[in-house]
Amino acid sequence: MRVEHEDAFASELLHSKRFERLSTADHGLATELVFGVLRWRSRLDAAIASASSQPIAKLDAEVLNSLRIGVYQLGWLERVPARAAINESVELVKAARKRSATGFVNAVLRKLAADRGWRNRPHEATTPAALAEAFAHPMWLVERWIKEFGTDNARKICEYDQQTPVTAIRLREPEVEKELLAADIELAPGALLTDARRVVSGDLTKAKAFHEGRVVIQDEASQLVAALLGRASRLLDCCAAPGSKTSVFADNNPAATVLAADLHPHRARLLQRLVRADHVHVIAADARNLPITAYFDRVLADVPCSGTGTLARNPEIKWRLCPDDLPDLHARQVTIFSSALARVAPGGRLLYSTCSLEREEDEAVINEVTNGVPGYGVVDCAAELHNLRDSGRLAWPDIPSLTSGPFLRTIPGLHPCDGFFAALIEKT
Ligand SMILES: C[S@@+](CC[C@H](N)C(=O)[O-])C[C@H]1O[C@@H](n2cnc3c(N)ncnc32)[C@H](O)[C@@H]1O
Repeated sequence: MRVEHEDAFASELLHSKRFERLSTADHGLATELVFGVLRWRSRLDAAIASASSQPIAKLDAEVLNSLRIGVYQLGWLERVPARAAINESVELVKAARKRSATGFVNAVLRKLAADRGWRNRPHEATTPAALAEAFAHPMWLVERWIKEFGTDNARKICEYDQQTPVTAIRLREPEVEKELLAADIELAPGALLTDARRVVSGDLTKAKAFHEGRVVIQDEASQLVAALLGRASRLLDCCAAPGSKTSVFADNNPAATVLAADLHPHRARLLQRLVRADHVHVIAADARNLPITAYFDRVLADVPCSGTGTLARNPEIKWRLCPDDLPDLHARQVTIFSSALARVAPGGRLLYSTCSLEREEDEAVINEVTNGVPGYGVVDCAAELHNLRDSGRLAWPDIPSLTSGPFLRTIPGLHPCDGFFAALIEKT
C-alpha cells in the first residue's frame, strides 16, 4: 500500500526497522510476496479481472492488493498450499476492515485456484503487446526497447527484470572474503569485475563485516561505472547519496580529497553514515547551482533518473513512470551536467552516468550539452575498459558488448547486472 500510495520503494521499506522482528524465513517470504506482486502486477490483474464479477478499477486498493498477493502465491509459489494462500488473503481483507469483501475475495481466488490456465504464458511472444503481456511490462517501455535494442534484446531485458537479481558485493578489504566464508556466506567470483563477488547463499545482512561497512552491496555495473573515475587527486561527486560510487573512488584514492554533495540533507546524512572516511567531506547542495568555485580533476554526475535499468530491483518503477516524465528528467539532467562540467579543471574529466536505458536521459543529454561547445572532448570508454582489463580488474571478456559508441552501456539480460549508461568528458 505504501509503495502504491506514497511512492515508497519496496527495497527500502523491506529493510526498515519494522521488519527487524521478523525471522529470516518470514522476512524472505514477505520480500518474495512484495516483489512478486510488483514484478507480475499486470499478469495478476488480468487473472483477477478474468474471475471477478466487478471491474478491478472499482475495487478498493486493500481488496485488490490482497487478491494480488493470493493470486501470486497460487500462480508462482509452489510450496504454499492454495487453501493457505486463499485464507491469508481473506484474513488480510478483514484486517484492512473490508469485511464485506471477504466473500468476494474468497470466490475469486477459489475460481482461479480451480483452473490455473491463466498461469501459462505465451513462450514465443515477439510483438510488443505479447512481450508486454507475457513479461508484465508496460507496452510503451517494451516498444521503446524494441526500437532501441531490437526484439531479442528487449525480450532479454524483460526476462531479466522478472527474476530476483543476484546480490553483488564489493570487498573493501580482501581479508573480508575469508570472514564471510566462515560466516557461511557462499560467494562466487564477480562477472564484470575481478574484485567483485556474487552472493550464492547465506544472509549477508547479518554478517559483522557488513554492519561495519567493510563489505558493501553494490551492483557490478555501478562498481564498473565508478571504476571509470580511475586515479585522481580531487573528486567532486555532485549527486552522491547513498555514496556507493563515492566510496569506490575514496577507497581507490586514499590520498585524494573528495567532496560529496546531495540535494537532500537527510540523504547527505545517510551518505556520511555509510561512507566513513576522513578524506570524504559531505555537503547538502543543489548540483544545479553549486555553492563551489573550486575546480576538480574528476567530477561525477550520477544524476537522478528514471531507473529503467534497475527494474529487477525496483519493479514498482515500471508502473509509476510514464513517457511524459522523460522530457522533465532530461531537462534536469542537462542542467546538472552543465553545472558539473563547469567545475572540471583543465585536463580533468566529468563522468556522467544514469541507471536508465532511455536515450533522452543518456546519449541525448551528452549531445545537447557538448555538441558544438569548444574545449571539451568525449573520451572513448573502450580505452578505459582496456586499461581496466590490462590492470586485471575487468573480468568481462567482451569489451565491445559493454560499449555503445564512445559510451559505456550495460543492458540487463545481456549482461548479468543493472543497466547503466556512462560517458566520460574531458576538458581539453
Ligand atoms: C542516482 S542517485 C545517486 C547514487 C549515488 N551516486 C551512488 O552511487 O550511491 C541520485 C542522487 O541525486 C540526488 N539529487 C537529485 N537531485 C539533485 C540535485 N539537484 N542536486 C544534487 N543532488 C541531487 C538524489 O537525492 C539522489 O541521492
